[in-house]
Amino acid sequence: MVSIREVPVTATATEPAAALLRGYVAASNEVSRDVWGTDDYERDAAEMLAGMRPRPYERVVRLVAVDHRTPDEDVRPDDVLGCAVVVMPLQDNTAWAYVGVTVRPAHRRHGVGTALYDEALRLARADGRSTLMAETDHRAEPAPGPGARTATTGSGRIPVDDAGVRFLVARGWTLEQVARRSVLALPVAAGTVERFRADAARAAGADYRVVTWDDRVPDEWLDEAAALYTEMSVAPPLGGLDYEQDLWDAARVRDHEDTHRDRGTRSWTTAVQHVPTGRLVGYTTLQQIPPVRDLVHQEDTLVAQGHRGHRLGMLLKAVNLQRLAAARPDARRVATWNAEENDHMLAINVALGFRPAGCSGEWQLTSG
Ligand SMILES: CC(C)(COP(=O)(O)OP(=O)(O)OC[C@H]1O[C@@H](n2cnc3c(N)ncnc32)[C@H](O)[C@@H]1OP(=O)(O)O)[C@@H](O)C(=O)NCCC(=O)NCCS
Repeated sequence: MVSIREVPVTATATEPAAALLRGYVAASNEVSRDVWGTDDYERDAAEMLAGMRPRPYERVVRLVAVDHRTPDEDVRPDDVLGCAVVVMPLQDNTAWAYVGVTVRPAHRRHGVGTALYDEALRLARADGRSTLMAETDHRAEPAPGPGARTATTGSGRIPVDDAGVRFLVARGWTLEQVARRSVLALPVAAGTVERFRADAARAAGADYRVVTWDDRVPDEWLDEAAALYTEMSVAPPLGGLDYEQDLWDAARVRDHEDTHRDRGTRSWTTAVQHVPTGRLVGYTTLQQIPPVRDLVHQEDTLVAQGHRGHRLGMLLKAVNLQRLAAARPDARRVATWNAEENDHMLAINVALGFRPAGCSGEWQLTSG
């Protein structure tokens, strides 16, 4: 019989009591390799543990499925059959939760996923979460036809015969959006990026000035960055996903940065200042998560309302790619996800050389 256990937040990732954590990481790494066919999303137990420390803005619960006879401290990484995560924001979106369930391929169709799912939903509902979100990942977007399911947005398709898709459909979930995964092979010819940067800078004109930082926002930009992160929380198209604005202030930005420092992540941000008002009106961030060095994650990109249409999106991304080339010449690719209906962002990425590399389904389940 399978037993579902919560992964404790231990002092270290190496002590005996961290056996469940090490098993969680091993199982989730196996599934992400199975889905994407690469080690690009490999996680490390110490990095994951650093992100699990209690924080005022989010409660994260991680679960593992193991044989009921095995005591926690005797669990070897291979004994973990599957795992689940429940992410519950504590400040805004307090009736919302993200739920992820994964089972090692060799242990599927034996009820492990259902046991993890039932416990994850029980925890979320006990915490008052009535809108749940989940994702399914797919190595390729299928052609239109009977083998494809289209999101309620009308954009983007995922394969109907995927195990995760069947699992969520059988449980009443709705496919609200499809996000395209895109990958940019590095290095990009320096002259190409510089041409994009120079053209965009010329179009933007003297009213806009580039500002950059690594890892931590300089004090002088802290409140401005918080305002941009708040706008970013609901700026991308959300399709039918019921997600509300998430408020950021200076303390939350610093808390977020502290967590990333503890996890050992590195980030490079390029922002743009509107010179006449002094405000920051856009930013983009690239991030590297240990232990992976080949892959860099393209995180948020935002140009604030009122400043769009000046080629600032291209300016931000081109400058940040130049900074990445200088800081991490050994990085091999950048990957990102964008809603399939996010035409403007996708157009910039395609121009820069990003190519489609799979997709994710964004699912929602609402209960009374
Ligand atoms: C989805 C997933 C968690 C299911 O794990 P599992 O241990 O096989 O789940 P269970 O055995 O409890 O239930 C499987 C149910 O999912 C559906 N399902 C899964 N694979 C299926 C397939 N190949 N064909 C038909 N139905 C399938 C069915 O409803 C099935 O129930 P059944 O076996 O009684 O017919 C697993 O396939 C997985 O890890 N996929 C990748 C991650 C993912 O997409 N997660 C879902 C989003 S959170």
